[in-house]
Amino acid sequence: MKKIPVKKAVIPAAGLGTRFLPATKAIPKEMLPIVDIPTVQYIVEEAVQSGIEEILIITNSNKHCMENHFDKNYELEARLLESGKQAEADLIDRIAGLANIYYVRQKEPKGLGHAILCAKSFIGNEPFAVLLGDDVVINEGGKPALKQLIDAYEKMGASVVGVQQVEESQVHKYGIVAPSIHQFAEESRLKKLYDMVEKPNLKDAPSNLAVLGRYVLKPEIFDYLETQGAGTGGEIQLTDAIKRLMYAQTVYSYDFEGHRYDVGDKFGFIQATLDFALSREDLHDSVASYVKELAATL
Ligand code: G1P
Repeated sequence: MKKIPVKKAVIPAAGLGTRFLPATKAIPKEMLPIVDIPTVQYIVEEAVQSGIEEILIITNSNKHCMENHFDKNYELEARLLESGKQAEADLIDRIAGLANIYYVRQKEPKGLGHAILCAKSFIGNEPFAVLLGDDVVINEGGKPALKQLIDAYEKMGASVVGVQQVEESQVHKYGIVAPSIHQFAEESRLKKLYDMVEKPNLKDAPSNLAVLGRYVLKPEIFDYLETQGAGTGGEIQLTDAIKRLMYAQTVYSYDFEGHRYDVGDKFGFIQATLDFALSREDLHDSVASYVKELAATL
């Protein structure tokens, strides 16, 4: 049977952003910039670089400015051009052409699994990607994290969740997978799963391999999401539905390459801001000398 290529992605962005209040009272957390680019744009760019053409962003009533960000802004462009700012005009014009982006609202905050279920009619009967906005992954000089998962999906024809090892003290924050000990000789990053637990206590955690915001899922996941009851935190969890999918068909984890930043966390956000600024030619020297100066005073 011919495999359908992964061309659609879902980005859940309906969260309340409580960890970043008061900044997120009026501004969606997805629009908080790392240096000068909103976090959600990094996620959209990763999807596009991974071959995704159509993106559905799951929003709520407070997220208009995200839609404006990915739209044309003729007035701003015209003003920039009038004042000879061609580079800036090109910069904002490019964003509007990144991908076909659609929006649907999650009407009640019932959890990640419920948010993904809102994408059912958009996805139809195709495999699709999920990218979570709190996880920004940079794989300098290599394949984007999502592309690594899509390649694994294409090879195995099965759903793949992106994982990396986390400190034991962190396992309670994530979906944790139980990989089979069998490894694919030629591909040790890919493992067949036999269990998955959402935010376990350390003593119940089957491993320290955490799902870090990247998934490629087969459309059958919707059958399980539709009947999924509330789990951890009283929310409908994607992890629980994937676990049930796993009983019907094989699901793999892929230990993706790349540095992942938890930008949903204040410290992770500060780390990303510093690293991204240091990696920019226009900012590297001034930021590096400031960081050195600062370090000497600590
Ligand atoms: C969600 C998922 C969890 C995953 C995490 C990755 O949790 O439910 O399985 O490990 O994202 O960042 P959240 O951080 O939204 O509570």
